[in-house]
Amino acid sequence: MAKTSSKRDPALIPLSHDHHHALVIAMLLRRATGETASGTRQAYLDFWRHECAGHFHVEEQVLFPAHAEVAGADDPLLARALADHAEIRALTAALADTSGPTGAQLVELGDTLSAHVRLEERELFPAIENELTDEQLIRLGERITEAERITVALDSPSSDDDRRSDG
Ligand SMILES: [Fe+2]
Repeated sequence: MAKTSSKRDPALIPLSHDHHHALVIAMLLRRATGETASGTRQAYLDFWRHECAGHFHVEEQVLFPAHAEVAGADDPLLARALADHAEIRALTAALADTSGPTGAQLVELGDTLSAHVRLEERELFPAIENELTDEQLIRLGERITEAERITVALDSPSSDDDRRSDG
């Protein structure tokens, strides 16, 4: 049964909600100037630590395998999404490693992040909505919610002592 493409399935709404945050951060990264570079770097690293890293984990543990089960482990869309995750992790590590990020570095990360969100929202999520039955989507939604709950619980004891409150 064809589903309307304009409406996100409830199962995927929590992940789409994260994507909205990612796009806001991506816009900040793409507009960063010499003056805002340091603050933008910190805003991104906070977003990464408290939201994006967990989001990637949930997608890789729950969402991507659900898609791979139907589309195959060698599905090109899946390969692109995984390659994006690897690239964003590498750019994030490089950004964390420098206290003086260049504008080009921030713009590259912003471009990569927003392109990745577009890939998932415009191609991967619609594919999943179409290939899974309503019942499978409900189960997927439950598993995403559960995985997010565990991920948030892992983050909340906050063992990291490098949080800055100079904003
Ligand atoms: Fe995502």
